[in-house]
Amino acid sequence: MLRQSQIVFLFVLLALGPVACRNTQGPAAIDQEKYLTLGDSLSRVSFDTLRNTLLARISADGLTGAVRFCKVEASTLTKTYGTAMQEISRTSLRYRNPENRPDSLSEQVLKAMQAVVERGEKPAAQLVSGPGGTIHYYKPILMQSMCLNCHGSIPVQLKPEIAAVIDSLYPGDLARNYKEGELRGAWHIRFIEVHGR
Ligand code: HEC
Repeated sequence: MLRQSQIVFLFVLLALGPVACRNTQGPAAIDQEKYLTLGDSLSRVSFDTLRNTLLARISADGLTGAVRFCKVEASTLTKTYGTAMQEISRTSLRYRNPENRPDSLSEQVLKAMQAVVERGEKPAAQLVSGPGGTIHYYKPILMQSMCLNCHGSIPVQLKPEIAAVIDSLYPGDLARNYKEGELRGAWHIRFIEVHGR
């Protein structure tokens, strides 16, 4: 467990502009280990819940039923583990649901992760400090073979009938033609740091 190697800090002052410059709580003031550990366990439990429910739904209702499940339930499930002090979501440069479109901070992080994957390396989870005392945890999501049923290429991986259901629910879908091992997106957990007590 080389914890140290996972601790990567990005300085995004340029992207955040004057807001971040006024933020006196610099990255050094944040308990990095605490937020990385919390982020790791929250993203793991969210991913497990989502994957297990998705697999159960595929075997009960087939892929078409599972696509509808994703539409209705995925964001509800990921929000189950959210609280007033932490928001859990998924984001991607090539998103399916426009609600998951990255903001400028997430876009920077995703592009940096993408560059790591393109170099043939494994991107690490990251913490980034944001405006207003917020701390952002990002964990990369890589494409696995079972995901290609809904995110791969037509017609071998993504069957035309499944693609048709996806098109009807997500007209502008960008989340297909992925290959195994590519960066699909990231878990994003936004923590609100409480100071003073
Ligand atoms: C049964 C089809 C299906 C399978 C299998 C599937 N997905 Fe998806 N995926 C979807 C749908 C539909 C959405 C849009 C969900 C929503 O409306 O929030 C989605 C959204 C996502 C998102 C959120 C970003 C975005 O594009 O909106 C990520 C990340 C993601 N999937 C990764 C994966 C990974 C990783 C796997 C494999 C472990 C996987 N998916 C398997 C259908 C699927």
